[in-house]
Amino acid sequence: MINTLSLEEKMRLLIAKGGFSTQDLNGKVSKIEVSDGPCGVRRPNDEYPNGIPSFCYPAPHVLANSWDREIVYKIGQSIASDCIEQGYDILLAPGVNIKRTPLCGRNFEYFSEDPILAGELAAEYIKGCQDKGIGVSLKHFCANNSEWDRLWISNEIDLRTLREIYVKVFEIVLSKVEPYTVMCAYNAVNGVNCAENKGLLNDILRERLGYKGVIVSDWGAVHNRAESLKASLDIMFFEEESGYLDLKRAYEDGFITEEEIDVSVNRILALIEKVSKTKEKRIPISTSERYENAFNAAINGMVLLKNKDNVLPLQSGKICLLGDMCVNPARCGGGAGGVSQKGEIPSLKQALKKYLPQIDVEYEMLYANICPTSNPANEQITNIPKALDLVYDSDVTVMVVGSSSIVETESYDRASIRLSDKIEKLILEVSKNANKLVVVVESGSAIDMSAWIDCVDAVLYTGFCGDVINDAIAGVLLGKYNPSGRLSETFPLSKDNDFIKKGTDSIRVDRYSEGCLVGYRYYDTKGVDVLFPFGYGLSYAEYKYSNFTIEEKGEYEYVVGCDVENVSNKDGDEVVQLYVRQIDHVLEKPNKELKRFKKIKLNGKEKKRVEFNISKDCFESFNVWNNDWFIPKGRYELLIARNVRDIEHCYKIKV
Ligand code: BGC
Repeated sequence: MINTLSLEEKMRLLIAKGGFSTQDLNGKVSKIEVSDGPCGVRRPNDEYPNGIPSFCYPAPHVLANSWDREIVYKIGQSIASDCIEQGYDILLAPGVNIKRTPLCGRNFEYFSEDPILAGELAAEYIKGCQDKGIGVSLKHFCANNSEWDRLWISNEIDLRTLREIYVKVFEIVLSKVEPYTVMCAYNAVNGVNCAENKGLLNDILRERLGYKGVIVSDWGAVHNRAESLKASLDIMFFEEESGYLDLKRAYEDGFITEEEIDVSVNRILALIEKVSKTKEKRIPISTSERYENAFNAAINGMVLLKNKDNVLPLQSGKICLLGDMCVNPARCGGGAGGVSQKGEIPSLKQALKKYLPQIDVEYEMLYANICPTSNPANEQITNIPKALDLVYDSDVTVMVVGSSSIVETESYDRASIRLSDKIEKLILEVSKNANKLVVVVESGSAIDMSAWIDCVDAVLYTGFCGDVINDAIAGVLLGKYNPSGRLSETFPLSKDNDFIKKGTDSIRVDRYSEGCLVGYRYYDTKGVDVLFPFGYGLSYAEYKYSNFTIEEKGEYEYVVGCDVENVSNKDGDEVVQLYVRQIDHVLEKPNKELKRFKKIKLNGKEKKRVEFNISKDCFESFNVWNNDWFIPKGRYELLIARNVRDIEHCYKIKV
C-alpha cells in the first residue's frame, strides 16, 4: 500500500483530518473515527459542542474504588458497545495519570495514586474495549498530573521516580495488553514537550516498554511536527496545515528523511487495516446489560466511610432528603471526560420509591450545590426553618453534597479539597437538629471532611457514578446492596498539609521533589495523619482473616495466603491487599507499596482462601546507573492488609 502513496500523501497521513478523524487521502485509505471517553462516549459536533448526549458510566475513579478487575473489564465492553452503535473506532481513553495531588481537576478520569492498582485496572478496561473491536488511546503519556498550565509547564522528574511511578503505570498496562494507540501529554517532562520528547516516546515507550502501536498527540500538543516525528509520534491531532508545512520544510532541509516518514506511515496503515478487520466482527452487548454493568460498578465502587451504630442500611421510619443533588446528581466531571446527559435520571426520592413504594420519604432542597468548592456565591440556600423542621421530625436525614462538572474538569484544578464554608456550616446545623444524619458525598476526588465528620452518623462516598447514581445510592442506603468500594486514593487532611498544594517554584516549572513519595507513599513514610487511608472502606458485612501461610517457591518466589471469612449474615465483598516493605534499605524507599490485591465475593458466613503469588517484580527498584530494574538485597516484609494502615499479618523474609 505504502508504494501507491506520494510523498505528500504520506506526510498528510501523519496529520489528522478535522477534529476527530484520521486522514482518508480523498478515499484512498479508510478513515478512523475517534471519540472521547472514559465515562461515556463524547463526540462534539456543531449542535452539541460538549458532546452528543450519551449514556454515562461510573468514572474511572469509581471503577478504581471497586478494585474489581471483572467489573472494569465489563465497563470497557459496555462503552465499546456505545462506540459500535455510534460509529466510532477508537475511544480516546482511558487516562492513567497518577493522582499526585487531590486538587487535579481531571482526577475523576484517572484511576489511582498507585501505579499498580491503576495499571492493572486500566488494562482490564482496555481489554474489555478492544475485545469488542474498539481500539483505545491510553493517555496522557506522561506526567500530566495537574491541569494548571498544562500546555506550558515542565515537570522536572528524576529518572527513578519517572520509571517507578509515572511511567510504571503505562508499563504495567503494556505488559498486559497492547492499546491500539497511546496519546502523549501536553506538558513537558524535564524541559522537553511530551509531543517532541524522543527520550520519552521513542527511548522509553517504544524501546524500553516495547510499544509497537501508533502514538497520537493530545489535541494541539504538537509544537513542531517534524520534531515530533523524530520523537516517533505518528499522528498529530487535530488537523492544522502548519503540521504539513513543518514536515515539508524539514524534508526539504534534510532534517527528516522519507524512510523516517515511512516508519510512521507503516504504523498508521497497519492501524487502518486492524480497524477495518475488526469492524466486521463488532457485536455490541445489549443496553440492559450495559446498564447492569454500570450499576454493578457503582455499587462496588461506593465507599462506606463511616457507619456509627449501623445507622445504614436505613431502617423503617421517616426519611428526609436534603440538597438539590438529590435531583441533579453529580454524574461526572467536565471537559473531554464529561458526558452530555441523555434522557432522565430518577431523583433520589424516585429511586428509593422504586425499591420501596411505601417508603416515608420527603425532599427539601435547602441548598443548591451548584459550584461548591470554587464559587460559593453560586450556592443558594432556601427556607432553612422549613427544612430544619422536616429534619427534626424525621428519623433519618440524608444530605447529598459534593462537587460538580464545573469544579472538577479539564483545564482547571480545584482550589481546595474542602466543601465550601456554607455547606460545611449547613451540615453542622442540620446535625444539631437531626436524629440521625447520613451524608452522601459525590465528588471526583478526595474531600477533607474533618470539619464535620465527627458530627454525622454515616458517610457514603459515591464519586461520579454516571447515570445510575441515584438508583445505586438508593439500593445501598436501603441495604438491597452492600457497598464494597475501598479508596483508591488517600483522603488527606488539608490543614497544614503542604504536599497537596502545588509544588511549583516557578510558573513554568513543577519540581517533583517528593520523588517516589506520592499519595500514600508520602503520608505513610512521613507519618502524616490522614482522614482516610488508601485502601480504606467499610461494609455492611464483617470479615475475619485467619490461617496465614507462606511457602517459598524459588528465588524471589513465594505464595502467601490466608482465609477470609464473612462472619456476618449479609453477603458482601472484601478487598485483600498485599503490601511490601523493605526494612533495611540503603535506597530511599516508601514505607510500603501495594503489590497485589484481590476482591472476593463472600456470602453471609462464607469463608474463602486467598493466595498471592509473589515474584521478582514485588522487590524491584529502578537503577538509574544501569537504566534497568534491579532487586536491592535485604530484609523485606510481606504484609497482608485491609488497607495501607491496617495490617492483618506480616511475614519477614530475606532476599
Ligand atoms: C484532552 C484529551 C482529549 C482530547 C480530545 C484534550 O484537550 O486532554 O484527553 O482526548 O482533548 O478531546
